[in-house]
This record gives sequence, structure tokens and C-alpha cells, in this order.
Amino acid sequence: MRNQIAAANWKMNLTYQEGEQLMNDIVKASIHLKGHQKAIFAVPFPYLMMAIGKTASMVNYAASAQNCYEKKSGAYTGEVSAEMLHSIGIKYCVLGHSERRAYFNESNLVLAEKIARCLESGITPIFCCGEPLDIREAGTQNSYVGAQLKESLFGFNAQQLQKMVIAYEPIWAIGTGKTATTEQAQEMHAYIRAELEKHYSHAVASDIPILYGGSVKAGNAKELFSCPDVDGGLVGGASLVAKDFIEIIKALK
Ligand code: PGA
Repeated sequence: MRNQIAAANWKMNLTYQEGEQLMNDIVKASIHLKGHQKAIFAVPFPYLMMAIGKTASMVNYAASAQNCYEKKSGAYTGEVSAEMLHSIGIKYCVLGHSERRAYFNESNLVLAEKIARCLESGITPIFCCGEPLDIREAGTQNSYVGAQLKESLFGFNAQQLQKMVIAYEPIWAIGTGKTATTEQAQEMHAYIRAELEKHYSHAVASDIPILYGGSVKAGNAKELFSCPDVDGGLVGGASLVAKDFIEIIKALK
């Protein structure tokens, strides 16, 4: 079975002490993960070492960055490179979250560069894609997401693609309490997988985890994750509450 992932995205929330408490509470629940299941914590940069420490003794638990810069190194004050993340033991990095695209003007092409930097450093990119509300209402979400995949991912070869995780996050469902229906999620995930199959192969497409993000909660995770092409979730709000995220981890296939 391909990997099933519950990924927490804390965004710019929680103090260090609150974050540490949250990690303690989740680790204390000691949910046993099977070989194909993973719990990943995308925390703010200053908390990465703490998250690495908390997850160190847990099997299949890992810390993740929420972003990195597209250049290797140099005079880019305030930025963090993939190589820096690798040097502290980070294995995952969320890239292209819709908030980064909207507030920091990250384009599909810049994201391709960030992905390249992560792969060079042995970091698995968690690549986010997803359409805004007007595109969904116009019914053109497939071609919109298709273009995101094409411009950011399809320049990579099959071997590189197999090192990635994709997260489909319809923007209209993020932080709004409005979740995509299981039919909408499954339909888009199947479309993404079909695109991967078209550009690579059946083997590559069936191997890549595609997470759903957008108002995943303790109460709807199981139903969403039960869709054949939904391989877990990228979770914002509900990942900030220990008991909720614990339920979401437990909902993994
Ligand atoms: P949400 O955020 O779960 O709060 O909707 C998801 C995300 O932005 O990754």
C-alpha cells in the first residue's frame, strides 16, 4: 500500500511553549503507526529542532518545514535554504501552499525551483495545489490544477517524482469550515493521478501519496481518507488541538 500521511500544518500559530505542549500531548498518546502510515508536523522554523526531538523516538513520525527558499545559498537575508533544513535532519518541506502563493507571490515556476532544491538535499517536497472558488464555480478546476502540476512538477523525471507527496487543497475549503465532499475530493485526486499516469507511468502514479487539505476535522477525516485516491490529509486548524489531530492520525487507512 502506498504511504498514508497525516500532516499537521501549524502555519504561523502557537508560541514555542504551546507548540511543545501540543507535541507532548500527541506523542504521549503513542499511536502506533503501521509501516505505510506517517504523522508529519510542519511547524514554524524556530520550532523545527524541538519537533525533531519530540518525534525522534517515534516510528514514522517526522518534522517538516513549511517553506524554503529557491536559491542554494547566498545573500538572501531572512531566508532558509533546503540545505540548511537537511543539515538539521529535516526530511519534508511543504511547498506552494495557497497562502504562500497568494501572500508571497509564489508562482508555479518558482515552486519548481524550490522542489529542485529540496530534492537535491534529500528532502521530500509536499507540493500543494488547488483551485480558488471562482474556478470551481466555473467548473474549470481540472485544467487549473493540471496547469499547476504541469508547470511545477512535469519537468522532473519519474525517479524524482516518486520522491514527492502531493496535497490537493481547494482554496475555498481552507480555514473556511467548508470541506470538499468526498465525491469532489475523490474526483480531483483521481484526476491528478490520471495526469501523473499520462506523463509518467501507472507505477509512478499509483505510488505517490495525494493528501487532501481544507477543513479536515476529527469528525470528517475517516470519511475523506476512505476515498480510494485520498492518502491522508494536510491539516491546518484541527492540527492545533491535540485530541483532534490524534483522531485524524487514527483515521489513516
Ligand atoms: P485548514 O487548513 O485545515 O485549517 O482548512 C488546511 C491547510 O491550509 O493546509
